[in-house]
Amino acid sequence: MHLTNLNQECLLHLFSFLDKDSRQNLSLTCKRLRVVFLDPQLWSLLNFFSPSELTRNNFILGPFLRYLNIYWHSSRVKVCNIEDYKKTMFQRDLCSKHASLVSHFLERVCHMCPNLLSLTLSGCGHITDGDVINVLCSCRRLQRLCLENCCRVTDAVLQAVVTHGGRLQEVRLDFCRNVTHTGLQTFREKRPAVRLVAERSAGMIPDTPPGEKLHSRRALQKVLIFS
Ligand SMILES: *[C@@H]1O[C@H](CO)[C@@H](O)[C@H](O)[C@H]1NC(C)=O
Ligand SMILES: *[C@@H]1O[C@H](CO)[C@@H](O)[C@H](O)[C@H]1NC(C)=O
Repeated sequence: MHLTNLNQECLLHLFSFLDKDSRQNLSLTCKRLRVVFLDPQLWSLLNFFSPSELTRNNFILGPFLRYLNIYWHSSRVKVCNIEDYKKTMFQRDLCSKHASLVSHFLERVCHMCPNLLSLTLSGCGHITDGDVINVLCSCRRLQRLCLENCCRVTDAVLQAVVTHGGRLQEVRLDFCRNVTHTGLQTFREKRPAVRLVAERSAGMIPDTPPGEKLHSRRALQKVLIFS
């Protein structure tokens, strides 16, 4: 019996064991396997380990997406998490190349994946409160939100979870230095049923614009080096 004689359900099951690249390569071999690749049911979990993976056409976004994880752990994370005013020209150039990649991708998720249950963004130094708030407003079934080392995210995200994240059961904000103790405390009071973990977030020193107290800048640098 040939592989392509199997029914859609069996083929979907087989495809589910393959990574994105292998799925795509297989889908280029014949029309039958292309149909399996294009089936939105295949795409309930997506893991990305670099922003460039977001631009490859080796996956399908659709209403079956439940779990989305974007991890960005390369040395470039450190560059993107530097405050803009401290970046050198070279660092600025490097960042500008991928500054809106994750934001644009999340915009597509908002339009195409209303049933998302869990979102993890790790090391995405460019995402803003607005990006995350859009997801909260569009993906109303979201149960788990995990933001790690996303320096632009502020207390506004926590306020948005109170307002829009009615289904959220778990929120993690780790190493997000622009989140404050007050923000976390207010959130805990307003949504005591949500499991909130915030490792190191409010303990870090938030960004201060140039010209402000030098000693707090030095302390921030120490915290960043230490982390
Ligand atoms: C998919 O095909 C490309 C081009 O032929 C190849 O370079 C790559 O290694 C293949 N990937 C996998 C996971 O088989
Ligand atoms: C952190 O918040 C401060 C004050 O709102 C802002 O000036 C700064 O740009 C933020 N940091 C980043 C990396 O976005």
